[in-house]
Amino acid sequence: MAEIDRAGGTPAVPGDWTYAPAPESRDIVHLRDRYGLFIGGRWVEAAESYETISPSTEETLAVIGQASAENVDEAVAAARTAFADGWSSLAGSERAKYLFRIARILQERAREFAVLESLNGGKPIKESRDVDIPLAAAHFFYYAGWADKLEYAFPNRTPKPVGVAGQIIPWNFPLLMLAWKIAPALACGNTVVLKPAETTPLTALLFCDVLRQAELPPGVVNIVTGDGRTGAALVENDDVDKIAFTGSTEVGKAIQRRLAGSGKKLTLELGGKAANIVFDDCALDQAVEGIVNGIYFNQGHVCCAGSRLFAQESIYEPLVEKLKHRLETLRVGDPLDKNTDVGAINSAMQLEKIKELVESGREEGAEIYQPACRLPEKGYWFAPTVFTNVAQSYRIAQEEIFGPVLSVLTFRTPDEALEKANNTPYGLSAGVWTEKGSRILWMAQRLRAGVVWANTYNRFDPTSPFGGYKESGFGREGGLHGLEPYLRFDE
Ligand code: NAI
Ligand code: MG
Repeated sequence: MAEIDRAGGTPAVPGDWTYAPAPESRDIVHLRDRYGLFIGGRWVEAAESYETISPSTEETLAVIGQASAENVDEAVAAARTAFADGWSSLAGSERAKYLFRIARILQERAREFAVLESLNGGKPIKESRDVDIPLAAAHFFYYAGWADKLEYAFPNRTPKPVGVAGQIIPWNFPLLMLAWKIAPALACGNTVVLKPAETTPLTALLFCDVLRQAELPPGVVNIVTGDGRTGAALVENDDVDKIAFTGSTEVGKAIQRRLAGSGKKLTLELGGKAANIVFDDCALDQAVEGIVNGIYFNQGHVCCAGSRLFAQESIYEPLVEKLKHRLETLRVGDPLDKNTDVGAINSAMQLEKIKELVESGREEGAEIYQPACRLPEKGYWFAPTVFTNVAQSYRIAQEEIFGPVLSVLTFRTPDEALEKANNTPYGLSAGVWTEKGSRILWMAQRLRAGVVWANTYNRFDPTSPFGGYKESGFGREGGLHGLEPYLRFDE
């Protein structure tokens, strides 16, 4: 080997495989100093304001409106007016044109959106560029296709729009969650008041510019920024016909209590603690990639993250060894660097939550492994982490960490894997890795999870419904199923 390396006087392989920085330029993004609320097609000054930052540098990016209850009422009134003034009675084929336009503009402006998403949320540019933004556009394309086919989607029923939809979204996939909410609502003829998460409002505010470009009638989509108080005001407003919420189980439960008996429609997409189950007959190297993608994608800020790895005992040792080896190659750092695999933690609050749960894992007796990586000084960071020696009762095996932290557990038989996998209050997603198709089907039928991936993980498609069981919520987004929450079928 050494001889080959020296052949010709220069080494045949470089001695060092580290990557040179490859930052994406920020120049494409033009931020305003301050943003108002987007109500009735106009910018309205909010009652109060706050600053939004970049979690990777802690720099202030812009001043954002904190909408009051009065501001929210104003937005709901604008949505009601737009609903009555023609949007709800517009032909489906006409609504589809607007959705197609929005989809195309998102594609045209994809780089701008990707850079802004990474800047404001901390996720790696290769994810916002290759996953978030293309999927958001795909969602608009997909639901544009349904807008004039609702009678075929629900034969022998008379689908009608629900009215004004109040939509509250989280910070982990800001533009994508906006698309998941707005596209089906508009396709079905509803109007919308959407509240982005307080830490990541910027792509939703840029989206208002897309609406203007698409010449969507004023008031059909209204964006109100602010924290949980703004969200609560939207839930409280009596003129909202439907609430769609994605976020924590705690807030989801509070919303459900508040709306009980009100007759309002409700869908909840809440947390998860997914099992990623690896059988000894699987393609091990592929499984390792799937495990890494399952938990370190988007810093683990993913409701369907594969946060509990169940390894069959017979392959436990080689699997953990390969996994640790793979972790050494993950690049943590600048979200705008095209080589970055793991970006910044979304907020100081989320970082605290991750640290607290990781500390509980150590204290309860789990063994921690983190690869050597140099974390930037400014900003919020957490190294990719694996816990072995985890008991099912530990908090790190029970609670949603929502960070780059994996808990490894073991099993011997399919029955045992199933029992352990279902031993959770959540039921959003699961993964199964095995060569046997029959075993995949046997597991998928018995796993109490809304989505089961086989020999892959974290794959999303607008045609495929997504949603949970138990404390992961109810209702489905995506696919034909995703239309139903935005329709009523009475005469
Ligand atoms: P959260 O549930 O408080 O926030 C989600 C959205 O709900 C945000 O837009 C927020 O402003 C809004 N909100 C907060 N309180 C509200 C209220 N009383 N009424 C109406 N809307 C309200 O989640 P948070 O605090 O950001 O994160 C806490 C934990 O929740 C995370 O660590 C994670 O475990 C989980 N989470 C799960 C998500 C998922 O995709 N299922 C997304 C975000 C968080
Ligand atoms: Mg909260």
